[in-house]
Amino acid sequence: MLVDKRGKKYLLKKNVDKLGTDLGVVDLKNKELGSVVKSHLGHEFYYIEPTLYDILKRMKRTVTTLLPKDIGFIIARGGIREGETVLEAGTGSGALTIFLANAVGKSGKVITYERRPEFAKVARTNLLKLGLIKKNQPIVGLDEEFNDDIDIEDGLFNVIMKIGDVREGIEEKDIDVIVLDMPDPWEVVEHAKEALNKKRGRIITYLPYIEQVKKTVEKLKSEGFWDIQTYELIERVIEVSEKGVRPSTRMIGHTGYITFARVPPR
Ligand SMILES: C[S@@+](CC[C@H](N)C(=O)[O-])C[C@H]1O[C@@H](n2cnc3c(N)ncnc32)[C@H](O)[C@@H]1O
Repeated sequence: MLVDKRGKKYLLKKNVDKLGTDLGVVDLKNKELGSVVKSHLGHEFYYIEPTLYDILKRMKRTVTTLLPKDIGFIIARGGIREGETVLEAGTGSGALTIFLANAVGKSGKVITYERRPEFAKVARTNLLKLGLIKKNQPIVGLDEEFNDDIDIEDGLFNVIMKIGDVREGIEEKDIDVIVLDMPDPWEVVEHAKEALNKKRGRIITYLPYIEQVKKTVEKLKSEGFWDIQTYELIERVIEVSEKGVRPSTRMIGHTGYITFARVPPR
């Protein structure tokens, strides 16, 4: 990634040699990451690695993706850790998938269901660029070959993508965590009860409307799920200037309600 003095970020394709900007052309040949480079007009740029957050903000989207405040909380309150197997639906653009895959690491796994192939294909490119799926890795249930020119050598490669409606059933067993960002998760609760590992299985749902939360919690209770708790997170950016320090006058309003529950032991 290049960053100019105004703070503008330019995410680069792999092995790119030159980048044209309104501050001039930056030649990256033989330049080292972590250095300051100059454009042909003499403007300075930081030449650094992007964080996952930088990538998330610029990735291709087909649907509304989860925000970092909600992603971080899902992982922390959900206790999602290295080595766990997480099942997710739906994949959407893959924003949550990226962070789940990084949380469970190389020894863990994320199985992500998406019912719309056109969304899954966009998410696939996002995940491929981050080394979370292998080059030419097919999407399970989609009869299509991929001939990608992106080739990441040292990725986590811990995501399995599937086309499917998760309300119709979950094939996998012994899942540690099920995360549902879809409109009707109560339709999945019975399948989740079967698929979740009884030792530490958890379910997490993300929903925009409170009526959906009520229906979900009622279903979870009737199926014996316990430790049920719903949250909403408010994020405020704090502006620090010479005049003073205060919250930004603009803020993100409501995003979604996040519900956590644990599967009952047998
Ligand atoms: C709000 S988006 C998910 C966004 C995703 N969490 C992200 O951060 O990019 C919801 C997705 O769930 C998919 N979906 C809805 N119902 C589904 C179902 N029953 N099974 C599988 N996918 C489903 C939709 O097609 C849509 O792509």
